[in-house]
Amino acid sequence: MAGCACGFVRAVLAFLLAPALVTLLVAPARGRGGRGHGDWDAAELLLPPLPPRENAALVARFVTNVCDWGALATISTQEGVRGRPFADVLSLSDGPPGKGSGVPYFYLSPLQQSVGNLQENPYATLTMSLAETNFCRKYGFDPQSPLCAHIILSGTVIKVSETEMDVAKNSLFIRHPEMKTWPSSHNWFFAKLNITNIWVLDYFGGPKIVTPAEYYNATSQ
Ligand SMILES: *[C@@H]1O[C@H](CO)[C@@H](O)[C@H](O)[C@H]1NC(C)=O
Ligand SMILES: *[C@@H]1O[C@H](CO)[C@@H](O)[C@H](O)[C@H]1NC(C)=O
Repeated sequence: MAGCACGFVRAVLAFLLAPALVTLLVAPARGRGGRGHGDWDAAELLLPPLPPRENAALVARFVTNVCDWGALATISTQEGVRGRPFADVLSLSDGPPGKGSGVPYFYLSPLQQSVGNLQENPYATLTMSLAETNFCRKYGFDPQSPLCAHIILSGTVIKVSETEMDVAKNSLFIRHPEMKTWPSSHNWFFAKLNITNIWVLDYFGGPKIVTPAEYYNATSQ
């Protein structure tokens, strides 16, 4: 009897869990890199050519647009490392592929350590690299080589205003569709990096300095 009951319970459980399992199996595929990002050079989405390296502002805009995540450094508020630099990976987007605004938008939760840090000190520095695409592997550039173009953006992380909310949301959700299903209990909110300083490492000879005005003015991506 007990065996029969267990078998029945197992069958019912399997039946109930099947959709969840299917979701689990399907979700990572959808979530991995999401759509229109990350998997550059998957057949349907070729990485556009790097802009001329001498146009550092344009290179910076290119890197921001093709990258869908970055390492954000904040100043820690954690016990034991208070006041020390603290970097974490954050998903971001400045808009659809090829149509970026240059503004790195984030979808953040107060539960994140970085956000706790930012609440005390909004200054932050964001790094993004073409090593996140297959560009550097393809040409054999080590991630630390300036030929593997990377950029460093410094500024403050601020909540986006009501008027900018739709732009932030569309920019993020188009590149990170799974954000739509992140648990609402985490109180996600839209934020952006208000950029004050930009360094571009895209060639030998040290970082190039680009002003935010030059960066936002750079077009033809
Ligand atoms: C963004 O940074 C600039 C330069 O520091 C500053 O003037 C401006 O007030 C900041 N914007 C916001 C919304 O904090
Ligand atoms: C903005 O771009 C235009 C056209 O490329 C250029 O002529 C102008 O100098 C740029 N301004 C700044 C601040 O970079």
